[in-house]
Amino acid sequence: MEPYNEKVIENYANPKNVGKIENADGVGEVGNPVCGDIMRMYLKVENNKIVDAKFQTFGCGAAIASSSVSTEMIKNKTLEEALQITNKDVVNELGGLPPVKLHCSVLAEEAIRKAIADYYSKQGIMSRE
Ligand code: FES
Repeated sequence: MEPYNEKVIENYANPKNVGKIENADGVGEVGNPVCGDIMRMYLKVENNKIVDAKFQTFGCGAAIASSSVSTEMIKNKTLEEALQITNKDVVNELGGLPPVKLHCSVLAEEAIRKAIADYYSKQGIMSRE
């Protein structure tokens, strides 16, 4: 059996929102110390809403696919809505991940939270983390 479903493969082969946002309003970088993979997420925020999101991920296919769908999921969401997104939501959006790859989706949840925390701290607002 194929370990990855079609949606995961599609988001790995043709990931959306790859790259960097110059002058991003929030940047979050997280890493998994076990595998060494790194995910960096960039946010553009206007009126408390995420108007753009991009990512750079040096990691496995599941981490890249998770980055791709999570940047799509947070676009046009308020910061509060984006903070509600968990790695389970990311996995659901991908239509599932093999159990040994679930931790890769955790990077996406953490990157979102860290980028939003960075935005809050740049605005002089205490992070709610
Ligand atoms: Fe490291 Fe997937 S194996 S994030």
